[in-house]
Amino acid sequence: MPAAALALHGVSVRFGALRAVDGVSLTLEEGERRAVIGPNGAGKTTLFNAISGAILPSEGRVEIGGRDATRASPQERARRGVGRTFQITNLFPELTVAENMRLALRGRGAAKWFFWRADTLDAHGREAVAAALASARMEGRDAARVRDLSYGEQRQLELAMALVQRPRLLLLDEPAAGLSPVERGLVAAIVRALPRDLSMVLIEHDMDLALGLVDRVTVMHEGRVLVEAAPAEIRGDARVQEVYLGTPHRVLAAAC
Ligand SMILES: Nc1ncnc2c1ncn2[C@@H]1O[C@H](COP(=O)(O)OP(=O)(O)O)[C@@H](O)[C@H]1O
Ligand SMILES: [Mg+2]
Repeated sequence: MPAAALALHGVSVRFGALRAVDGVSLTLEEGERRAVIGPNGAGKTTLFNAISGAILPSEGRVEIGGRDATRASPQERARRGVGRTFQITNLFPELTVAENMRLALRGRGAAKWFFWRADTLDAHGREAVAAALASARMEGRDAARVRDLSYGEQRQLELAMALVQRPRLLLLDEPAAGLSPVERGLVAAIVRALPRDLSMVLIEHDMDLALGLVDRVTVMHEGRVLVEAAPAEIRGDARVQEVYLGTPHRVLAAAC
């Protein structure tokens, strides 16, 4: 059996008294696509940060590709093949699409490249940039200035920037948030068309979008895993309905 792409064993992240992530265990097989869904505040983004290394867990173990990575830096995890979307705030609005892609390829730590505008890529680099832009349906937009892109295109560029280093485990945190229905459809098509050997964890608040894109779903609630199941079982699950919609019991309790 190949090593799992990602394994979490009892991972908790505490912020003071709050357990934002509370004893989460999950295993993502090589090539698996997993959605992590759940209401706002469920701990999804914090869990991502524990996987990418932006936050160290207070308890538990993180394994990437079968090797312990609990204390590894984000840079080390990136070298082991973890890629995640950058938030739009990390795009450089005054630079072009091509320049932002070059920065993403160099690694975010290499701020010096920012000042070296004449930096050129070798054939490998050019090919990686072209492939990532094509995957994110941004081909032909190289020369556009980021501040002139639509919001949807900026989100596509984030995806391209996450793809350019050819990750083996891709973490997407609400890639369709704030988009129109048409733009959401485009993001869904982009995600669906990514290589099947890429392992993926997709955080998405919108259940309809998430369920159509993944092999398996983890539902989080108050920092814990509430349910893990195939997409077809999720929608009808009473526990999932309760956290998404609230039960009559809860509504009554709130009214009292
Ligand atoms: N840096 C932080 N400091 C303190 N509390 C935080 C921090 N980040 C997140 N939280 C809290 O942790 C909980 C989970 O947040 P988050 O992981 O962002 O949830 P989700 O992504 O599911 O909406 C929330 O109650 C949030 O307010
Ligand atoms: Mg979040």
